[in-house]
Amino acid sequence: MPGLGVNIDHVATIRQARRTVEPDPVWAAVQAELGGADGITFHLRKDRRHINDRDARLLRATVRCKLNMEMSLDDEIVAIALEIKPDQATLVPENRQEITTEGGLDVLGHARRMAEVTKALQAAGVIVSAFVDPHRDQILASRQAGCDAIEIHTGRYANATGRAITETIEEIRSGLRAGLDAGLVVHGGHGLTYNNIAPIAALRGFCEFNIGHSIISRAVFVGLSEAVAEMKRLIDKSAGI
Ligand code: PXP
Repeated sequence: MPGLGVNIDHVATIRQARRTVEPDPVWAAVQAELGGADGITFHLRKDRRHINDRDARLLRATVRCKLNMEMSLDDEIVAIALEIKPDQATLVPENRQEITTEGGLDVLGHARRMAEVTKALQAAGVIVSAFVDPHRDQILASRQAGCDAIEIHTGRYANATGRAITETIEEIRSGLRAGLDAGLVVHGGHGLTYNNIAPIAALRGFCEFNIGHSIISRAVFVGLSEAVAEMKRLIDKSAGI
């Protein structure tokens, strides 16, 4: 049964719009857990544009479900991850200009660094997942680097229209199969919404979906725990639970 990881970065983005103390992403994590979240996801970026070091530490101290830290391969960020020890680290690409994570990680191109960071995190007891496009070579490279899991980038599917929707679902389906065949745990995320989650949650084999923007957007109107509960119900229904 696929779990739901709620990405709370956008709560911190609202706080940073005023450089003040509210809304607090740590409160958001509590509300998400009360709504039934199976995990809390945050991205500590090098530029600290939303989540900061204080948030990361408090989340580690307070979150009771799975804590998933999205992170780049940057030395400073890796050192923080080794110190706070999230339950899971999802390795993502990061560049300064992007509005959000734009593409999957080039695991093939960073094979040595990936293996080094993966080994260090695992030695600290952290599960390691790589955020990749649904491409067989990148998925196999993640396995080669020693990762426990992959998160398949669902952004192309989320942005697709017309016939391309079916094509992108097929890409995700074959990425999911390649990941499972390689012995990896498979997650999915990016751009998933209340309107587009059903066909993806219906694919057998996903272990977890990480969803942020759509849930936080709905929370503005219905509250966060209700927004999380609604997404949980949709995932369970689409997965046939
Ligand atoms: N998964 C990863 C690896 C991400 O970088 C993000 C965005 O931070 C998400 C999932 C969530 O994406 P969205 O906010 O579009 O739901």
